[in-house]
Amino acid sequence: MKILVTGGTGYIGSHTVVELIEAGHEPVIVDNLSNSKESVLDGIYGITGRKVPFYNVDCTDLEAFGSVFEAEPGIKAIIHFAASKAVGESVKEPLKYYRNNLTGIINVLECMKRYGASSLVFSSSCTVYGQPEELPVTEEAPIQPALSPYGNTKQICEEIIRDTVSSCNTLHAVMLRYFNPIGAHESALIGELPLGVPQNLIPYVTQTAAGIRECLTVFGNDYDTPDGSCIRDYINVTDLAKAHIKAVERMESGKQKQNVEVFNIGTGVGTSVFEIIKTFEDVTGVKLNYKVGPRREGDIEKVWADASYANNELGWKAEKDMRETLASAWKWQTTL
Ligand code: NAD
Ligand code: WQD
Repeated sequence: MKILVTGGTGYIGSHTVVELIEAGHEPVIVDNLSNSKESVLDGIYGITGRKVPFYNVDCTDLEAFGSVFEAEPGIKAIIHFAASKAVGESVKEPLKYYRNNLTGIINVLECMKRYGASSLVFSSSCTVYGQPEELPVTEEAPIQPALSPYGNTKQICEEIIRDTVSSCNTLHAVMLRYFNPIGAHESALIGELPLGVPQNLIPYVTQTAAGIRECLTVFGNDYDTPDGSCIRDYINVTDLAKAHIKAVERMESGKQKQNVEVFNIGTGVGTSVFEIIKTFEDVTGVKLNYKVGPRREGDIEKVWADASYANNELGWKAEKDMRETLASAWKWQTTL
């Protein structure tokens, strides 16, 4: 199946392109390289032996985006990753986030209607749950007021998708609420490329271990958790990528129960920051320089997924364990 992947040279997009090829699909990439490099295509080629059609196009430019559909007739599905994703930056530059993330999804839906693509997979986030009252969190948990403009764009995009799909009976969507994606492809030919000082835990850990950063700060050890540090559900990026293939195939084979469906994509297991540090040191044999600092503003204390709906309905399950995943992150870091 010909599938358009927006943001396909990005972190999750590139891993999904590899899995699409391995599942026999024909991905086409659109990316404006605002947060990735064209050389990612070489990594994809190295793994799959396939040169994927690539368009350096901005999804917010409707005319340019539409021209990709003209050049690539027969696109049936879109996996829409392209978005700005830095939480802190979104607080400082909210309009950049509203413009990029909202105009992007509007143009994707517009082109799906114009050019007859029927299935959409949207990158949503566990950020929509805020601090859930009950854990593990299910898809039925209430959506909390967003803690950042970035988080708000995910909530608004979900609403835009629901309204558009209910207005047009040819459209279908699956919204995947990712928990915390980490790790890299086992080949270490593709992985995460954070710009500047990493905001996320795992790139900070690997850069500290590599001597690029002096010391990791653990943001708070006085939370109401067994060891006092925050708990997240860290999901291997290749496992996450595979959920997108299941989602597209579910829509195209008419197995959806509703025209818009939502799935949590996580492992179902919560891991604390201290547990991550310990496992990383154990797996790599590298001693990590870290200290405990104050809590980070806006951090959620603990969240992990109830992924049983994805397990049972989508036929998807996280397969890789934390040791393998942290080893892949370290292998990738050592190639940079
Ligand atoms: P990423 O920044 O690595 O990838 C996004 C890609 O989209 C980049 O290559 C960037 O150049 C491109 N892009 C951005 N705006 C564009 C535009 N207007 N037109 C064309 N290309 C554009 O990010 P990622 O971690 O791979 O995230 C992918 C998606 O998953 C995003 O929508 C993100 O919000 C969502 N998500 C990410 C995480 C996470 O922790 N990484 C968690 C939950 C949800
Ligand atoms: C994980 C844990 C930190 C860095 C963010 C976004 C969220 C989502 C994923 C997209 C937390 C701790 C971190 C450090 C630390 N993205 N930490 N020292 O905060 O769960 O989620 O990325 O939708 O929207 O908010 O991920 O990797 O930043 O933090 O102690 O230097 O690591 O406090 O407990 P987070 P993260």
